[in-house]
This record gives sequence, structure tokens and C-alpha cells, in this order.
Amino acid sequence: MLRPEVLHDHNELNDLAIDVSRIREDFPVLTTLVKGRPLVYLDNAATTQKPRSVIERICRYYESENANIHRGVHHLSMMATEAYESVREKVRAFINAREPREIVFVRGTTEAVNLVARTYGAVNVGPGDEVLITAMEHHSNIVPWQMLCEEKGARLRVIPITDRGELVLDAVPNLLSQRTKLVSITHISNALGTVNPVAEIIRLAHERGIPVLVDGAQAVAHMPVDVQELDCDFYAFSGHKIFGPTGIGVLYGRADLLEAIPPYQGGGDMIASVTFEKTTYNEIPYKFEAGTPNIAGAIGLGAALDYVQSVGLDKIARYENYLLKYATERLSSFDDIQIIGQAPEKAALISFNLHGIHPHDVGTILDQYGVAVRTGHHCAQPVMDRFGVPATVRASFAFYNTTHEIDVLVEALGKVREVFK
Ligand code: ALA
Repeated sequence: MLRPEVLHDHNELNDLAIDVSRIREDFPVLTTLVKGRPLVYLDNAATTQKPRSVIERICRYYESENANIHRGVHHLSMMATEAYESVREKVRAFINAREPREIVFVRGTTEAVNLVARTYGAVNVGPGDEVLITAMEHHSNIVPWQMLCEEKGARLRVIPITDRGELVLDAVPNLLSQRTKLVSITHISNALGTVNPVAEIIRLAHERGIPVLVDGAQAVAHMPVDVQELDCDFYAFSGHKIFGPTGIGVLYGRADLLEAIPPYQGGGDMIASVTFEKTTYNEIPYKFEAGTPNIAGAIGLGAALDYVQSVGLDKIARYENYLLKYATERLSSFDDIQIIGQAPEKAALISFNLHGIHPHDVGTILDQYGVAVRTGHHCAQPVMDRFGVPATVRASFAFYNTTHEIDVLVEALGKVREVFK
């Protein structure tokens, strides 16, 4: 029988200095019943749940601060502008950028990558040039480069991966050449969980004068990120994957690079002056933020960063690693399971298949037990091709998950097997 009540792992957690019972109280959705059973939310790589402080901050903005930013001399507009801009500084501190003007607000990681492809790519990539990515990218870090390469007559090159799901680092020097104009790599694979040695790849690229973009969508909520220490040139992440709202994200770019590249979209706020003869552009980061931005989203993101910092990313990383170990041990005890992605450096995410059962069927039955996982190709079809599977089941964890929830997953997988026997 599946135990319907949500338990909390008090004893183990005391050792890990994280009070999950307390934390769970901050996330209203976690008390939801799904088909009469407590929600077991293991789809955090797709999107994370929101703490009450984020929800309330967004409400407060709309209830008492709503106005457009950068445009008004009136009280509300100034309050909204200050709230929005203070988040820029918060993000700067969060990823240790040098200056707030290196922080561009975008819709999410996808828009950040497209922005770099359309601006940096437009002026730096030409016929015969190359862009280097990895074989474990999300489609959002493949397709924008493919589109650019097609348009420019350039070539997309790919760092291969091993059977365990690690990058073949030895291949990198040979893949970098004078033709390489940019390297764009994921920090953590959304399909495999692999934590990539991005600092090492950045070093190899920089030795050859090549800038590097890091897709941090799966990283920022799970480990401390320091863009100066990584020495990356661009870093992208999405608010909704770090307990903030959807529709807001961040592109960090080194100030000199952002200054050198053209704007992304034209419109209000990104200009210094406009005549029919000529438009001059605003300074960075505003040059990249045309139109009224997602003000409430940015403010909600600020509250999310506050929340994450109040828990502490070091503690989060340690606790999630503990969950990963526990889940891997429990799932590995089945002899009909194939875990895809077994890199030693791995985030708290397990992609797997049960022999002879389609992942969508697994996901649908798990849902009957209140267990939410993602099934499919995870917007990483080349990863599926590399491992010769059409899809996987993916359980991805956050610091509000418990070992009891992993037990529920394991028991529900037992039910899946019974159905398909
Ligand atoms: N990129 C998100 C995922 O991996 C949507 O599920």
C-alpha cells in the first residue's frame, strides 16, 4: 500500500542542517491532493514550485505598486522602478557579476540564448565559422545556433558524450579552432543530470580567445554559481526554475561584450534618441530590454532569490545530493531499470526506463498515485538518440522533496510493473 500521508525525514535532515518540514510549509501547492493522494512533485527540472513569499510579493506589487518603470515621475512609477532595479542588483550579487549593468532581464533561458545568437552571432559569425555546443544540450541551446549557422553559412560542431553521460573532454581541443566564434554549453544537463566541467571548457576556449555562453537553467537553483570564478562570458537562467515566476529570466553578459554587440529588439526604453533619420541606443543593459518588461516577474524573481539564499545553496546542494544518492540506490535495486546518465558529477535528477514499458505509460500510472514526473524526450532529442531511446521517465528533485516521496515513487513503480505484467 502506498502511504498517503506526507512524512518528513527529520533525523537525517538534522544532520544535513536543513529542516524540510519547515520548508514544505512555505510552499502552498505541496499540500495539494492529486486523485486523493498527496502530491509528490518530482518534476522540478521542468519548473519549480513557488514559496508563499514569492506569491505574496507578486500580489503586493499588483495590489499596491503597479506602474510602468523608467517612464514616470509619479510615486508609483518610481516605486516600481526601484523594486525592478533592485532585483538587478540582487541578481548581480547572486551570481557575483561585477556590475548590475551586466544583468539583462529576458523571458527565460531560451530568450537569453536567442538574444546572444541574434546579436553576438549576427556580427561575429560568418561563412565557414563554427559554433561549438555539446551533445547534451536542450533544444533551446541547439536550435538558435542551427538557425544562425544556416543563415550565415556557418557550421555547428558538437562535443560528444560517453556512455555514462559525461562530455568527452579530450575531444574539446580538436573541436576548437580559429573558426570557432562561440562555445555554448549547458552547466547541468536537463536530461541526464550531468554537471559539466564548464570552468575547464571555458579555460580551453579562452586560451584560444573564444567566448563561452553557459546555459545555467538547471544549475542556479541547485548549486552556488559565481560567473567571475567560472570566467564565462555569458550565463543564462530562468526564474521559474529557481522558485520564481515564469516569463522572467536572466542573461549575464560581460559588460565589454554587451557594449560591443548590437541590440536585440527595437522599441521603447532601448533607445537614447529617435529621429526618422537615426536612432541611437540606450546604454547596457537597457539596450537589450525593449518594451515594457515583466516587472512583476522580476520582482517575484527577487523574492525567490531571497528565499533560496535564506536556505543557502550549499545546504541545498548537500541535501539534494543526499536525495539523489537515496533515489539512485532505491531505483537501482530493480533489475528491469535502465538509468540514463550515470556521471559521477550529477545533479539531483534521474532519467530512467523500465524494461518493456513506454515512459508515457509509466508517467500516466505514476500520476494515479499523485507522483508528478516528466516523460518524453525532455527537449533533448539528440540525447535520446545518443542513448538509443525514444524517451525517458525523469524524476527531478528540489530541496522540499523527501526520502518518503522517493519511497512513494518506488512503490508506485511497483504498481506500474503489476499493471504491465
Ligand atoms: N527545460 C525544461 C525541462 O527540462 C522544460 O523539463
